[in-house]
This record gives sequence, C-alpha cells and structure tokens, in this order.
Amino acid sequence: MRDIAHSSSLPRRRRTKAILPLLLAALVAGGMALVFTGTASAGTTLGASAAEKGRYYGAAVGTYKFGDSTYMSVLNREFNSLVAENEMKWDATEPQRGSFNYGAGDRIVSHARANGMSVRGHALLWHAQQPGWAQGLSGSDLRNAAINHVTQVATHFRGQIYAWDVVNEAFADGGGGGRRDSNLQRTGNDWIEAAFRAARNADPGAKLCYNDYNTDGVNAKSTGIYNMVRDFKSRGVPIDCVGFQSHLGTSIAGDYQANLQRFADLGVDVQITELDVTQGGNQANIYATVTRACLAVSRCTGITVWGVRDCDSWRGSDNALLFECSGNKKAAYNAVLDALNAGTNPNPTTPNPSGNRLRNEASGRCLDVNGASSANGAQTIIWDCHSNANQQFTQNGRALQVMGKCLEIPANAAAGTRVQIWDCGGGANQQWVFNSNGTISNAQTGQCLDVNGAATANGSTVIVWSCHGGTNQRWARA
Ligand code: XIL
Repeated sequence: MRDIAHSSSLPRRRRTKAILPLLLAALVAGGMALVFTGTASAGTTLGASAAEKGRYYGAAVGTYKFGDSTYMSVLNREFNSLVAENEMKWDATEPQRGSFNYGAGDRIVSHARANGMSVRGHALLWHAQQPGWAQGLSGSDLRNAAINHVTQVATHFRGQIYAWDVVNEAFADGGGGGRRDSNLQRTGNDWIEAAFRAARNADPGAKLCYNDYNTDGVNAKSTGIYNMVRDFKSRGVPIDCVGFQSHLGTSIAGDYQANLQRFADLGVDVQITELDVTQGGNQANIYATVTRACLAVSRCTGITVWGVRDCDSWRGSDNALLFECSGNKKAAYNAVLDALNAGTNPNPTTPNPSGNRLRNEASGRCLDVNGASSANGAQTIIWDCHSNANQQFTQNGRALQVMGKCLEIPANAAAGTRVQIWDCGGGANQQWVFNSNGTISNAQTGQCLDVNGAATANGSTVIVWSCHGGTNQRWARA
C-alpha cells in the first residue's frame, strides 16, 4: 500500500486570523453511560463513542476556519481531540530565530480545553515547513537551534498536550528502511533521540511520539522505524508512542492491524494520526477497517482524521474525509461510528474492590463534589462518607472519574488552588498519582491533594499544596 498524498508536493495553505466565536458546546462526557447504566451503549458521535471504548477521536483543525459555523458545529459535536494542522509547526511557532509565536496554537489549545477535548501536538521537528532561517543552517548550529526549538515549544505548551509528534517523517520511502536525508539528519544520526530527551525534560506529562506515513503495513520503512523504537526502548530513550499517519488510497494493507500490534508489543502506544482515504467504493470500508484495527489493539489510544469536511482537506478533490462540505455525514462516517460502537474498551472504568471513595486520614471524611453538582468547575470538599455518586471516584488510567467528569486542577494551577471537576480531556492536570505514603499528587504540578488548613469539619475545602505527607494529605480507598 502506498500513501496517495504527500506533503512536500502540496502548496502550503494560507493561514488567516479569525475571531473565535464563543461556543458553549457540551461534549458528551466519555464513560458516562458506562458509569450510569452499567450496560454496553452506542455513542451517537465519534468522540462519545470512542470515549466509551477508552479512546479519543480527533480532527486536525486550522484556526482560519474557526469563523465557519458549519465547520465549528461539526467539530464541537463530533470530536474529543484536536491537532493543529499547521499552527504548531516550526515555521509557525519560531518564524525568526529565538522569537516565538504561539497565538494560533494557544487558540487551538484553549478551544479544546473549553470543550473538553484533548490535544495532540504536531510537530516539533520535521524536514518540511521549517522557517527559512533554519533551512539555511547546518551542523551544530542547526542542532542547537533544533533542540532549543523543542525545549521552548514543549515548555510553552507544558501540561496541555496529550501526545507530541516530537519527530515527523524522518525515514525514507522505498525499500532501504533507512533515514531520510535532510538538514536535520545531516547533523548526526542521534538527532532524533536528542529531540526526544529534550521534549521529555520540557514536558514530562506528554506522551512522546514518532510519526510517519507509508507505514500502514509491515514494509521496509515501517520496519526501519520499528527497529529504531526497539533500540530506543532498550537504551532508555524516552519514547511513548508511534503515530501512523494513514493517508490512504483505494486499498489498505492486509497486515495493517498486525503492524500496529507489533509496535504495541514493543511497549509503546500507537495512534492513527492523520487519517484520510481517497473517495470511491472502498472509502467507507477502509475507514471501518482502520477503526476496527485500532480497537483491536489495546494500546491503540485514538484516531485523528486530517480535517473535518472534504472541503477542509489538504487532499484537494479526493473527498477524503467523513463529512460533506454542507456538514452532512458521509457513508464513511456511519461506517466509523458503527465500528466504534462494536468495539471494546481495553481499560474499562471498574469499581475499586476496596471502594471508590477517598477517605481523608485527618478528618475521616470523604472527598466529595460540593452540592453533588456535575457541572464543569464544581469544587471539592470533605464531607461525611456516604454512598452517593459525588463521592465515587473511579480510576481510568491516571484519571479519577466522578459523575462522568474528571478530577482536576486548572492547568498549571498554583499551590492553594481548589480541586474541581471538568470534562475529561486526558491532560496531565487531570492525572493523579497514588503515592506509597497515601498522598495523591497531580501529574502536572506534582502537588498533593490537601484539606485546606488541615481542617476536619464538613465542607472544608480541598486544594493542592506542596506534598508534606501530613494526615490532611493522606487518603485511603473506602
Ligand atoms: C499538511 C497540511 O495539511 C497542509 O495544510 C500544509 O500545507 C502541508 O502540511 N504529513 C504531516 C502533516 O505530518 O503535517 C501534513 O499536513 C500532511 C502530511
């Protein structure tokens, strides 16, 4: 299978600014149906259905479309993950050396956050869409500029990104299985691992991915990448995931799923990162095949399509996406939704055998969402332990879900900030680590769940504070 479309031959799209309309779209919170009904259910949107299977379903977006109401209504209704089609690339974020521009990328992140969506970051280093100043560099000057770019950009978006494409398209097409020649490659073969290490230092909460195309089956190129990932894992180079762009034509490799699985077996997550499929009689079937393949691989954490409607696609007249320009759903959409609804969740939100409540040691009272409100921003307190839903915190990975929402602090919140609930988005600010001394720390800031002022009365507020291990910071399942 050969990918149909490819980047370097296509003209760059114009990026224009548009005013972000204030959209108060409520995304169906993932896992809600499981929590409340306990039965299998059928999601009615891509994002909700994927979430029920423990996955995301995302779209690449351009801020220049944010003023298009048809586009925005499909986007906000259907997807629970976003990636910037161009706005986080090197030419966009560092147009002059050392001078960074995050405006458009930030708009995408804040739109995602306001709508309960997670964000993929794309892409820190790539041979294409480099700013002119970087194209003219070589040797250690380029290496230093590239690593600085990784550090600066990953630091800026720290805590906001579910997974970064740290390096994009570094392998050559064809039968050799080797690296692509590029100015970055000519700085030395270790440029990729240097980039991954810099990204990990800058944003320890983000999953770090290698991303490429023409890797949609077992072939020389995907095997070259496979060998690199195996080598990275054996040497402790920080890599967490591999992205399969999957710009597909009118057929799909018979070993598409097997290829995903062999990467997963190396101990990395896999994701479908830029899916689009040439129109025609096979389009819906290929979309369904990709969806089923991801759902069959427990470490396949989500799928992203490279655009919303056919007329938003970089693939011109291929009509390669899931929606018509009018916003109407295509047959391919129905095929994807049916495949999602038929899938399974490899990591279901299961009740904890020792109980789903979190009892605070100092007070003997339980973590409680104030007023049993399930609204975004509802805050937590301690209260007498009872059996209502607002004290039931189930674990889904590192997320703590309650009433279909996730326990969180606002991004990068300071010590003293109240702990609240919000639509689950997968960000590090919604991830919690259970420490062996009984404290529970936030994966983004490292600060601990803490009853303010070591109070013990009903209604005392729960905040994050630097971890000291006192009894007002210790919690047990009950
Ligand atoms: C494409 C965008 O869709 C276009 O708007 C832009 O002009 C060129 O880049 N592989 C990738 C993506 O990793 O970043 C590319 O996106 C498509 C191919």
